[in-house]
Amino acid sequence: MKTRCSSGAGTGENPELPTRPPDSDLLYSPRRGSRCAISRGRMRILITGGAGFVGSSIALRLRHDRPEDSIVALDNLVRRGSELALPRLSDHGVEFVHGDVRCWEDLEGLGRIDRIIDCSADPSVHAGYDGGARALIQTNLNGTAHCLELARIHGAGLIFLSTSRVYPIPGLRGLPLRTEGERLVLDGSDEAGGWSAHGVSQRFPMQGYRSIYGVTKYSSELLAQEYTAMFDMPIVINRCGVITGPWQMGKVDQGFLVLWAARHLFGGSLSYNGFGGEGHQVRDVLHVEDLCDLVSQQLASLEEHAGALYCVGGGPERSLSLRELTHHCRERSGSEIEIGTNPSSQPADIPYYVTDIRDVTARTGWQPRHSVDDILDDVFAWLSKHQRQLRPILGTTERGENS
Ligand SMILES: NC(=O)c1ccc[n+]([C@@H]2O[C@H](COP(=O)([O-])OP(=O)(O)OC[C@H]3O[C@@H](n4cnc5c(N)ncnc54)[C@H](O)[C@@H]3O)[C@@H](O)[C@H]2O)c1
Repeated sequence: MKTRCSSGAGTGENPELPTRPPDSDLLYSPRRGSRCAISRGRMRILITGGAGFVGSSIALRLRHDRPEDSIVALDNLVRRGSELALPRLSDHGVEFVHGDVRCWEDLEGLGRIDRIIDCSADPSVHAGYDGGARALIQTNLNGTAHCLELARIHGAGLIFLSTSRVYPIPGLRGLPLRTEGERLVLDGSDEAGGWSAHGVSQRFPMQGYRSIYGVTKYSSELLAQEYTAMFDMPIVINRCGVITGPWQMGKVDQGFLVLWAARHLFGGSLSYNGFGGEGHQVRDVLHVEDLCDLVSQQLASLEEHAGALYCVGGGPERSLSLRELTHHCRERSGSEIEIGTNPSSQPADIPYYVTDIRDVTARTGWQPRHSVDDILDDVFAWLSKHQRQLRPILGTTERGENS
C-alpha cells in the first residue's frame, strides 16, 4: 500500500501497515482532483500527520470541540504504530486520507480546506545523521512548504507544530549547569540572553548548527512567517518542547517518557546515554491534552493569533531528569529493570532543555493542566489497557532497541 509519492523516498517502512484501512477505500487513496467524501459542517480542517501521536490527539479533540466541522487526517503511516490510530479516528468520525505531504497531488486532491494543522514530520533529532537526509528534508521542509501553499490557494489558516530543536546545539550545550540531587540545574540566569530559572525563551541566540531535523523545522518557521507577511495569512507557530502522553509510540530516539514507562512494564533494556551516562539530563514534558487545549483555543480565534510564535511546553514545574523518571516508573510498575550507562553523547544530544512558557501564558491565558504525575498515570493506564497491541511496538527487540 503506497501513496503515489511514497515509493523509493520513504523514511523507512512501517512493517505493520495494514493492507487496507479499516474504514473507507474511498478516503484511503486520493486520486488527482478527487474530493474526499463527507464534506459536512462549517469548516473543513486538515491535519497532516493526522495518524501520528500529536496529529491524532488533535484530530480527536477537534472532533469533540467542533462537532459541526469536518476533520480530515492525512498521513502516509510511515511511523510504526500510526496504523493503530485508524480505527480510533474512524470510530469518532474523522476522515482519513492515506497521503503524503511530499506529494502535491495528494494534497491538491483533497477538496476545500479551511484550516490546516501541520503535524506531519519525521520528528527525530537524530534523523539524517547516517547521511540519509533527503527524505527528512522532503517531509519536514518541502512538506510544510506544500501545506503553506495549499493554505494560500484555499485562503486557509494554518497552525504549524515546530520544535525547541530550532535552538542551536552549541548554545544549549554551553548553558552553565550544575548537578543538584539527581538532575542538572541551570547555574545562573541571563534573561536578555534567553535563559533563566523559567527556562529557555525566544530570546535565545539562534546562531549555530541545530541538526538536520532542527534546521528543517527552523526553515519551515521562517517560510511560514514569510507567508504570513507576504499573503496576510493567519498562521500560528507553536514551538514545542517535549510532548508526551497516551498513544505516543516512544522509541529510543523520540518519545523517551513512553519508552521508559513501556520498558518498565513490558520488560527490556534501557540506557542512560550521553553526558557521562548519569541520567541527569533534564527536559520539561507537556501532556498532549494540554497542547490540544491550546490548539483548540487558537483555532477558535485564529485571526487573533495570526503571526504569533509561541514557545509551548510543560515549563519548570513539569521538568524531570531520566534518573527521576526511573524512580517514577519503578514506583508505578513495581519492577526494577536494568539500566545501562553509555557516557558518550550523540552529536544532537543536549543535556538540558526546559521551556519558558511565560510569554504564551501572558498572551493567551493558556497554561498546562496536567502534572508529571498526571502524565505518568495516564501513560501507565494506557499501556496496561492496550498492552497486547503495544507490546510488539514498544517492547524490546533482540538488539535491545525498538524499531
Ligand atoms: N512529540 C514531541 O515531543 C514533539 C515535540 C516538538 C515538536 N513536535 C512536532 O509535532 C509534530 C508531530 O509529532 P509527533 O510526536 O506526533 O510525531 P509522530 O511521528 O507520532 O507523527 C508524525 C506523523 O507524520 C506521519 N508522516 C511522516 N512523514 C509523512 C509524510 N511525508 N506525509 C504524511 N505523513 C507523514 C507519520 O506517519 C506520523 O504518523 C511534528 O511536526 C514534530 O516535529 C513533536
